[in-house]
Amino acid sequence: MEQRPSRLALGMAFFDIDASSPTDLPADAQELATVALRVAVSAADLVRDRRAHGFGVDTKSTVTDMVTDVDRASDALIRELLTQARPHDGIVTEEDDDISGSTGIVWIADPIDGTTNFVYGHRPYQVAIAATVDGRPIAGAVVEVESNDRYHAALGAGSYRGCVRLRVPYAPPLERALVATGFGYSPERRSRQARVVAGIITDIRDIRRLGAAAFDLCSVAAGRVDAYYEHGLGPWDLAAGELIVTEAGGAVEGIDGGLPDAYRGIIAAHRDLLGPLRELLIANGALEVIDN
Ligand code: IPD
Ligand code: CA
Repeated sequence: MEQRPSRLALGMAFFDIDASSPTDLPADAQELATVALRVAVSAADLVRDRRAHGFGVDTKSTVTDMVTDVDRASDALIRELLTQARPHDGIVTEEDDDISGSTGIVWIADPIDGTTNFVYGHRPYQVAIAATVDGRPIAGAVVEVESNDRYHAALGAGSYRGCVRLRVPYAPPLERALVATGFGYSPERRSRQARVVAGIITDIRDIRRLGAAAFDLCSVAAGRVDAYYEHGLGPWDLAAGELIVTEAGGAVEGIDGGLPDAYRGIIAAHRDLLGPLRELLIANGALEVIDN
């Protein structure tokens, strides 16, 4: 099995953690992945069950940015189960206030990723949960609600869909790359995102807009798309899926070439495809999508 060194950010400095030495971490990454998967499965069960009985919808940042009472119920269940399992860790979820901890581990969770799909009844929508240290994921799980498809990863221990080990298959040339992306909820940002898509569409195989960032990332790991990029994500959209890609041998970087930054924009792909795609995106205005 290939072992790759992983990089964790610590303040402004970077150090390499030998992924084969999980004792360097504040907890065993595989145990944390087991917790993430167990909690995500329970939350996905709740989401599936509650959808069948009807739900209320509110809006958040804009009229297109929806939150349902099922998002909130899933969020509350995730917090309850994580607090039971790991009472001294921090917790950050999309629909409630941050909880600080004392262990150095912070859980980052999206109670429903793909809320618009959930509301309209399109697949996929999923629960995504990651354990992070200094902002970088060390364990994570994504559970697609309708199919009950389960992905998980632990730092240095690989990515899995169910029991099957995932490997990002290969890097096609850019003109044959199927690229997933998504759009934020602000109309101004959407319009800049759409201009980038219009600029790259003639230089790639095609675009996919699946409606759920965690699923897009799992799709890179599983070879259902060749690459994924997006601007303006929340940390809960990225954390679990990022690790699932990197532990499948893929790369996740900032669109600007730095460490992955959910808000400023990320690219996930086979390492050999990532550079050419970044150049194409930047040539088409990808560094101007997020206003400062
Ligand atoms: C959204 C989805 C969507 C992406 C948006 C995200 P949410 O998450 O992941 O695919 O394009 O940027 O905000 O709001 O459904 O949790
Ligand atoms: Ca969400």
